[in-house]
Amino acid sequence: MITIKNVLCNQLVKRCSFALRSSEIRFLFMLFTMIVTLTLVTVVHAVIHVQSPSDPVLRTSFTIDDNELEFGNIPKALRFDCHPEDGASQLSCTNRGCCWDPMDDVNDSGNLYALDAPVCYYPENWPSYEFINSTIEGKDFSGFLTRKVKSFYNNDIPIIKMETTTLSHSILRVKIHDPQSPRYEPPWPVKSNWKISNVKDSSPKYIFQTDSSRPGFAIKRAADNNTIFDAIGKGGFIFSDQFLQISSLLPSHNVYGLGEHRTRLKLNTNWNSFTMFNKDQPPTERVNLYSSHPFYIVIEESGDCHGVLFLNSNAMDIILQPAPAITFRTIGGIFDFYFFMGPTPADVLRQYAEVVGKPFFPPYWSLGFHLCQLGYGSVSKTREVWNRTRNARIPFDTQWNDIDYMENRNDFTYDKKNFKDLPQFVDEIHLAGMHYIPMIDAGIAAAEKAGTYLPYDEGLRDDVFVKDAETNQPFIGKVWNPIATVWPDFTHPKSAMYYFRMLKTMHDMFAFDGLWIDMNEPSNFLNGKVNGCTYNKFDYPQYVPHVVDRLLATKTLCMNAKHHLDSHYNLHNTYGTGQAIVSNLAMKKIRMKRPFIISRATWEGAGHYAGHWTGDVYSSWHDLRMSIPEVLAYSLFQVPMVGADICGFDGNTSVPLCNRWVQLGAFYPFARNHNSDDTIVQDPVAMGALVVKSARKALLIRYRFLPYLYTLFFKAHKFGDTVARPLFVEFTNDKNTYNIDKQFLWGKSLMIIPVLEENKVEVTAYIPPGPWYDFYTKAFISSTGKNFTLKAPLDTIPLMIRGGSILPGQTPNVTTTLSRKNKFELLVALDYKGLATGELYWDDGDSLDSLEKQQFRWLNFTVKGQKLRNREVEKGNFSQHMILGRVSVMGVSRKVHRVFLNDNSSIPFTYDISRLYLNVKGLYVDLKRKFTLSWAFEE
Ligand SMILES: *[C@@H]1O[C@H](CO)[C@@H](O)[C@H](O)[C@H]1NC(C)=O
Ligand SMILES: *[C@@H]1O[C@H](CO)[C@@H](O)[C@H](O)[C@H]1NC(C)=O
Ligand SMILES: *[C@@H]1O[C@H](CO)[C@@H](O)[C@H](O)[C@H]1NC(C)=O
Ligand SMILES: *[C@@H]1O[C@H](CO)[C@@H](O)[C@H](O)[C@H]1NC(C)=O
Ligand SMILES: *[C@@H]1O[C@H](CO)[C@@H](O)[C@H](O)[C@H]1NC(C)=O
Ligand SMILES: *[C@@H]1O[C@H](CO)[C@@H](O)[C@H](O)[C@H]1NC(C)=O
Repeated sequence: MITIKNVLCNQLVKRCSFALRSSEIRFLFMLFTMIVTLTLVTVVHAVIHVQSPSDPVLRTSFTIDDNELEFGNIPKALRFDCHPEDGASQLSCTNRGCCWDPMDDVNDSGNLYALDAPVCYYPENWPSYEFINSTIEGKDFSGFLTRKVKSFYNNDIPIIKMETTTLSHSILRVKIHDPQSPRYEPPWPVKSNWKISNVKDSSPKYIFQTDSSRPGFAIKRAADNNTIFDAIGKGGFIFSDQFLQISSLLPSHNVYGLGEHRTRLKLNTNWNSFTMFNKDQPPTERVNLYSSHPFYIVIEESGDCHGVLFLNSNAMDIILQPAPAITFRTIGGIFDFYFFMGPTPADVLRQYAEVVGKPFFPPYWSLGFHLCQLGYGSVSKTREVWNRTRNARIPFDTQWNDIDYMENRNDFTYDKKNFKDLPQFVDEIHLAGMHYIPMIDAGIAAAEKAGTYLPYDEGLRDDVFVKDAETNQPFIGKVWNPIATVWPDFTHPKSAMYYFRMLKTMHDMFAFDGLWIDMNEPSNFLNGKVNGCTYNKFDYPQYVPHVVDRLLATKTLCMNAKHHLDSHYNLHNTYGTGQAIVSNLAMKKIRMKRPFIISRATWEGAGHYAGHWTGDVYSSWHDLRMSIPEVLAYSLFQVPMVGADICGFDGNTSVPLCNRWVQLGAFYPFARNHNSDDTIVQDPVAMGALVVKSARKALLIRYRFLPYLYTLFFKAHKFGDTVARPLFVEFTNDKNTYNIDKQFLWGKSLMIIPVLEENKVEVTAYIPPGPWYDFYTKAFISSTGKNFTLKAPLDTIPLMIRGGSILPGQTPNVTTTLSRKNKFELLVALDYKGLATGELYWDDGDSLDSLEKQQFRWLNFTVKGQKLRNREVEKGNFSQHMILGRVSVMGVSRKVHRVFLNDNSSIPFTYDISRLYLNVKGLYVDLKRKFTLSWAFEE
């Protein structure tokens, strides 16, 4: 006999000891939820605030025999792991007051994280904290909880406080912290930037609930009482110094987000762990990668959608299990949750953007094609590739250099021998109307002779380097630099000025236009210092999340390294974003134009300062395919400027692969071909005629529709809308779209359907219900929501235009500088009723204050009753030429007799009756003024 206090391995479902099918499991959850709901006592925003007695059945002490403990029959899907450390045994499990059930089918292969139902799991209502008191002031709840039973982790916080903040009727913050001694909270996103609309009058879309006898809280959707988050008494609620855990039931399996990981877009809830700890790690399934975004969105069964941000930057595991349920298990900080009530996915993302910050507004040129390779090795080699790409008349705007341009691979220098002509080359690039971007690594060389390398000397003088906890001197590791590397501390108040001075000095040498910041996880070639890290509570915490090698300092700094603000242990995941912030500020001051920064490591809110590329992807068909969910996940994280290295970074690409990759890459929001120095040369010309043909064809389409893409970036910047858009964002009521991540949209109107397999010249795509048009043939498809097989010749990427759309375009040329001089066009795709709408945002493409100074034109277009017209959405004064040269209309189902401009003059046109296609060319219409273009049918 084992006697355990307050344990109930499952009284509730013991009565149902039959094998459970999933429908029955669902039923049990409902039952479970109902019972839980009965015990809910504190209902904020509801009129009555009731105190109910705690449920006696759930609160009794038990004496349970071995048999009952071993086979306590909480359904597997509902078992929350009580022993996430390795080496669970029946004794260690039951010592925790948990249930032990060694299942026959358990995977005990050893080192791999057991992605299965746990063998050691919490009983229901495992005791931890209970409320002492609670109050409601206005709309907000606050309550104190006291620890009842010690957890098995060191330094439980004895009293914790839970408070809610009503940020708007759609955004609720729930913060659980130590009221006696403030704990670490991430410095970014900057909360003082919040300008959240105060909507005192309207009633919140959420209902917040607690239970006086049990920790946790629940959130319901007010409109339908659907519980979207239920963490009351689920799993093991723990708040100790270095182990914080909370579990919640989820309302559906449609879960997205939780990056950066290599996963499908729709996350697998069948026992999956997502570890958040920024690491220099080529994208691979099931491991932590460069960035951390503890944010997810869920489409509920009703089709309504909500989002949850867990604003905690410590290393953590987030576990999804088939209940469906989620567990947040972090090793520091506090619980700081933000609930975004939607109800559409677009609403959720706009609300989330209010908290983490809206994406930066990119310069127009950055929407062009970018080209790079590590190891050109010289200006002449770089120029040769630049030149041949231009000679091939491939649309191309920005040449890059990786670290080989640097002297000794040291930041803020350039190689005076092999890159001696870099300043002239950059001028030459500018003369061609193009741009140049160099790489900057996070680490600074620390072993150059004193007086020969100012970035180190001045950093020392300003005391801006991260410090070694043992010596209180700069923390020394090793990256690309000779011998030794130190790292700027971007939480140091002087770091922004330091970075500005370094970049300004470099900019005075060669006038680069943007920055590529790398190795900022931060990456280190050592595990900590030369001799590793000392044994301390940060490097060897009681619980280590499932980071690669289960050692936090693997290929990074020691966790006890000191930043101005706090320990590296706390700040690690924010480091790259800190670098992005100071880089953004510096570039703004240096160029007085829009900064363009691409960062490898990102954290919540990074998109306000920088874009992201997906790191060291492999030149494989699998990596090509997985790049789509990665780009789409970043759209959700409010980092719309994102792309994978076209044709792959590591390993040799091949013509068939690179051919399909340039086609897909032409539709990444950030389109750059880049690869490693030990792989074959893979710029389009080097890959031969087919790749050149595909690159030219796909990129000319990109350049033609850059005004549309730019408008999408404007809307991302202004509202937090997505650019590369998952289908479910547009077609939320169509469940067929929930799992689609081999095709995607630009905005609402253009669907991109890449070929992702070798030797295929057709592709099966899901076409959501409605009218659609093949971009190339103008063929009309009236879909009822079905799969279609589309032709995809080797040089062509299938594209579909959604009926009801008007896409603004511009005659393309080989650079954005040239294409911006051309006339605009409008491509109209009518819906069943002959209607269509679209928008165009336009400005000079590079000024910092175009929006503030109203130096823009923001127009919309509508077609109704065979008449196209424009309107100004918001007043702007941008005065340069904006000439409309062409209007083409797909889906004109009757023969057109005449076309009129401004109702009076009849103008030339062509009408193709077989394709239902009206084409009006040779226009010269000032878009800044009101106009109409209409067509009349034959009587
Ligand atoms: C609730 O309890 C805490 C901790 O004991 C105490 O500090 C606080 O004043 C109490 N609040 C109310 C409203 O009673
Ligand atoms: C939600 O539940 C409350 C309390 O039980 C009830 O008053 C309300 O009518 C319900 N609302 C909906 C939309 O079902
Ligand atoms: C660039 O291309 C042009 C046109 O083919 C050629 O005349 C010139 O020599 C090339 N320059 C370099 C540096 O390769
Ligand atoms: C479309 O095809 C995919 C892959 O073959 C399949 O998984 C999906 O169920 C199909 N969708 C519909 C609506 O038939
Ligand atoms: C592209 O620009 C070149 C150089 O200005 C010009 O000669 C050419 O006509 C342009 N082509 C188009 C299609 O605009
Ligand atoms: C276009 O903008 C005008 C003025 O802001 C607005 O009234 C109209 O509803 C807009 N039309 C569309 C289709 O967005």
